Amino acid sequence: MKGLFSRKPIATLVAETEASGLKRSLGAGDLIMLAIGAVIGAGIFGSIGSAAAGQTDAAGHVIRYGAGPALVLSFLLLGCVCALAGLCYAELASMIPQAGSAYAYTYATLGEIVAWIIGWDLILEYAVGNVAVAISWGDYFKSLTGGFLALPAWMTTGYRTALLSADPAVHGLMQSAPHLFGMPVLVNVPAFAIVALITWLLLTGVKESTRANNIMVGVKLLVLALFLIMGAQHIDTANYHPFAPNGFTGVHQGAAIVFFAYIGFDAISTAAEETKNPQRNLPIGILGGLAICTLIYIVVGAVLTGMVPYQKLGASADPLAFALDATGLTSISKIVALGAVFSMAAVLLVFQYGQPRIFFAMARDGLLPRWAAKVHPKTHIPHITTIITGVFVALWSLIGDANETYDLTNIGTLFAFALVCLGVLALRYLEPDRPRPFRVPFVWPVAVTGAGACVYVMLGLPGLAWVRFGWWLAIGIVLYAVYGYKNSTLRSGEAQRA
Ligand code: ALA
Repeated sequence: MKGLFSRKPIATLVAETEASGLKRSLGAGDLIMLAIGAVIGAGIFGSIGSAAAGQTDAAGHVIRYGAGPALVLSFLLLGCVCALAGLCYAELASMIPQAGSAYAYTYATLGEIVAWIIGWDLILEYAVGNVAVAISWGDYFKSLTGGFLALPAWMTTGYRTALLSADPAVHGLMQSAPHLFGMPVLVNVPAFAIVALITWLLLTGVKESTRANNIMVGVKLLVLALFLIMGAQHIDTANYHPFAPNGFTGVHQGAAIVFFAYIGFDAISTAAEETKNPQRNLPIGILGGLAICTLIYIVVGAVLTGMVPYQKLGASADPLAFALDATGLTSISKIVALGAVFSMAAVLLVFQYGQPRIFFAMARDGLLPRWAAKVHPKTHIPHITTIITGVFVALWSLIGDANETYDLTNIGTLFAFALVCLGVLALRYLEPDRPRPFRVPFVWPVAVTGAGACVYVMLGLPGLAWVRFGWWLAIGIVLYAVYGYKNSTLRSGEAQRA
């Protein structure tokens, strides 16, 4: 039993970092750009619609209540929750500057079994999250190219989306799509293709990818500014009444799905081993990126719900473009759709970058097969895990549904955030003297409120997300029992010494 909670010494983590073969090439500016690249994406371009309007299933049952114009309160709430978790991430990331993010931190703080659970859980945040982004990317790509590249609906709609949709036109695809062995063929080809393209880009090397990311971030900021300037001129204040149609339940449940828009500021901590002077640059990158994005979201939420009645936002997969179209700004809508396509490609890039590095860290520790931890001698990329991630995400994107994957990603990520908050507290007691280049101020209230707030947001997700999350964790524990427990480098080292 004691072995299950073995903690990896921080000194070992730092030494491994030096020997890993990954190059230190990123500065604070690159990190803020990576954070914005990861954060502003499908959450604000896609999930904001369901957050404002709520969601029903194909049979008309309520899955979640919408926030209405009070969505701005959901964003405010989430900004506070993420700032608390962000402070905790910054302390751990600056203390333990290693690839692997929350996984590496928990290994040093709460022990191996918790670290494994977190590493397994982070697959929900990174890989499954990217499935949702790829699907939303496909939706904007479709509205952008609809005029000249009209792919048949069965090639741009995943099976799960058609199955679950409350929109009769989409649900009807279950019958009208071509059938193979009695099953409707419903595949999202654009979503699949973008994941394949991003994976290829990552395999060509980190520096090239960072440069591409910087360009994409510039584009997304410009396009959101355009949406705000044009949209603000078409606000009808009547749309702000009622302000909170479903009261605080709507604000809470809206926050639980649009939390997706905040995921990613923590992703840059996975780049710790490739960051110059991580002690200084990581906290600046995480908190700076978070502050900028929260501000943008509040303003976008206010303008969007002022442009059209909130009820109309749920039916559309591309709500920002929809609102512009509805107010007659059709050419601006195309430009925004183009920007959304760039923005979400940037998000995909950061998460496709982060996931292989988490797998890499887990494989190096023996919790996953060791061959997965190989770094390519020329590009210094963990190429095997990069390819595995690409295949997993691309195949799921082909048939998956966005809302379903938002929920699964959010519950997993919030759980990881809560454990990171608790990890900071644990480490203050377990290793009080270790240098902390960044210290969370008022650590007790910040860490405890942070963990509690994450659990509170989780409670706003549908019951089915909880059930699936439970299954996911159960599968992870079984895998640990049959593989990681026997192969862990840390525990076999301890056994030899004993
Ligand atoms: N926050 C990222 C997005 O909204 C994951 O796409």
